[in-house]
Amino acid sequence: MQIISLFSGAGGLDLGLIQAGNTVVWANDIDKDAVATYKENISEHIVCDDIKNIDISTLPDCDVVVGGFPCQGFSQANMLRTLDDDRNQLYKFFYNTIKIKQPKYFIAENVKGILSLGKGEAIKRIISDFEAAGFITSVNLVNMANYGVPQTRQRVIIIGQRKNLGDKMKFHFPVPTHSRSGEPKPWVSIEDAIGHFPDPDKENNVLNHIYSAYKVSYRNFTGHRETDPTKPSPTILARGNGKGGVCAIPHYNGKRRLTIRESASIQTFPETFHFNGTMGSCYRQIGNAVPVKFARLLGEELIRLEKEENI
Ligand SMILES: C[S@@+](CC[C@H](N)C(=O)[O-])C[C@H]1O[C@@H](n2cnc3c(N)ncnc32)[C@H](O)[C@@H]1O
Repeated sequence: MQIISLFSGAGGLDLGLIQAGNTVVWANDIDKDAVATYKENISEHIVCDDIKNIDISTLPDCDVVVGGFPCQGFSQANMLRTLDDDRNQLYKFFYNTIKIKQPKYFIAENVKGILSLGKGEAIKRIISDFEAAGFITSVNLVNMANYGVPQTRQRVIIIGQRKNLGDKMKFHFPVPTHSRSGEPKPWVSIEDAIGHFPDPDKENNVLNHIYSAYKVSYRNFTGHRETDPTKPSPTILARGNGKGGVCAIPHYNGKRRLTIRESASIQTFPETFHFNGTMGSCYRQIGNAVPVKFARLLGEELIRLEKEENI
């Protein structure tokens, strides 16, 4: 399918969709490092600009719109006027794009917190906006470990389907392939994912195999807990070192933080995927991403639907 990608970042979501056989016809991000990474590894088609400067009528036609949108403007006091709130301009851009382009499907990724925002009123409002724009919406809370990603990352994936598509074109959300109990397959551990990498302090030719000097200390909160090599990693973060930087997860050897490469492998980026920018910027691009392996499953469902349509 032909895809428009908003808030594309380094392209974790896009890469998975492309690996499954889809085509991204237009992409955008405001962050120049993320755009450089996207251009080097995925395609030159990404536009580096603030999305607010983009005129939706100039975007190409597409079958699918994808992208996560921030939702700072969903305060409880203002729940009924979310589309008017200035802080919701990015949400509004996503909303207007699907309303104007009327794709067959949209995929929107968000943090788990969106479900409890305004005591659940925000997500109700979002669903009702999407409904008014012409879409049937499903909201799915996903633990990425259940899809073979070596990380217990929880994210909300909203799937929209244009109302007039009919039953045979129903988007079936991917069924979990892994579980804690081992059915159908056991969760993938952090050691399975990164155990083969050489010591980053010794000479090696692994891309982006450098790590943050941020001290490892165990204080029993996110980013400061011991890492168990036999389990999936905790969520790879995009912020949180207390100085505006990114808190990389400690390596299970207890001596250092994960390298950029190790973090990327836990997010299931290929080892040939090279990140651009400062160390903090690379960690942020990785922490922001949708795991490629999970994105590919969403992409495979789009390909199935495309074939279904052509029968
Ligand atoms: C959660 S990340 C998206 C990650 C991406 N889906 C992936 O899988 O790699 C959100 C992105 O929105 C971008 N962004 C934030 N404000 C923006 C704006 N005003 N215009 C364009 N992009 C923006 C950020 O730079 C960031 O890369």
